Amino acid sequence: MPAPNPNACRSLLSLESVPREQLNAWLDRAAEFAVAAQKPSPAAAGVSTGTAAGAATATSSLLRGHVVANLFYEDSTRTRNSFEVAARRLGADVLNFSAAGSSAKKGESLLDTARTLAAIGADVLVVRHAAAGAAAQVARAVSRPVVNAGDGRHAHPTQGLLDLLTMRQRWGDVAGRHVAIVGDIANSRVARTALAGLRTLGARVTLVGPATLLPRAFAALGAELSYELDPLLPHIDAIMMLRIQQERLAPATIPSLREYAGRYSLTMDRLNRCKPDVLVMHPGPMNRGVEIDEDAADDPRAVVLQQVANGVAVRMAILEWALS
Ligand code: CP
Repeated sequence: MPAPNPNACRSLLSLESVPREQLNAWLDRAAEFAVAAQKPSPAAAGVSTGTAAGAATATSSLLRGHVVANLFYEDSTRTRNSFEVAARRLGADVLNFSAAGSSAKKGESLLDTARTLAAIGADVLVVRHAAAGAAAQVARAVSRPVVNAGDGRHAHPTQGLLDLLTMRQRWGDVAGRHVAIVGDIANSRVARTALAGLRTLGARVTLVGPATLLPRAFAALGAELSYELDPLLPHIDAIMMLRIQQERLAPATIPSLREYAGRYSLTMDRLNRCKPDVLVMHPGPMNRGVEIDEDAADDPRAVVLQQVANGVAVRMAILEWALS
């Protein structure tokens, strides 16, 4: 067996194969950052650098002198902005790259762009790209830690972690809980990633959607599959609604959005058939009136904005880990 490479970068590319102990270590640290963010604004704390043992504070100088580069080849509101806030709260500088308005428009490749940003001084690269495997390619090409911020249908690991953190905050432990993930499973990196994390932590997961959006192959990943939503409603502890990924949808996959919404949308009628303390989750962006009704999205059982806020805490934990 080859000796571990002491110079290997700490990259986060997927939650598949991440051991339970590592998931819990990230979630514990993110939970500390989330609690610190609730406290009245302390001044920058100047926590000693480089270890995960430092006390979590809302802002700190843990990553002072480091540069976090956001390489976004796909649109984003939550992920990109929360990585930026997370980096700044840790004292890092941030380079924001968007393919639009960059030399990518002149033909520069993803890998040459990543190498260029590393040469400018980026210490960690946060990559979002439409191609599955793009972040892993960057990690192989550039000797810097890489955090996958979403690659095609493949993975979105910090989204998975913020989903798990939100559930842990409510339940303490996700083991034994039953989570339904509803919608465009075939095209969703969020579903695949949440499934991996939830199964590792001992939760039961049912994936729900029409047959054309629910590949049977997900059963081999530990999921139960259902083409019907209504029978599940009284039995689940959380319901995670997914957007129809129009940008990745094959033509004629669903007859119409109206018909789809009739069977799978989270309406108030369906929500009221769930347990009274069910968690209503959505990774965003929501398409109100399609996968979730206005009233259900704004119901007190919906934790969508808590998920967003937890994204900052999770990304602080991951940037600290990647650069430690
Ligand atoms: N959940 C999520 O990835 O949202 P954005 O596309 O806005 O980053």
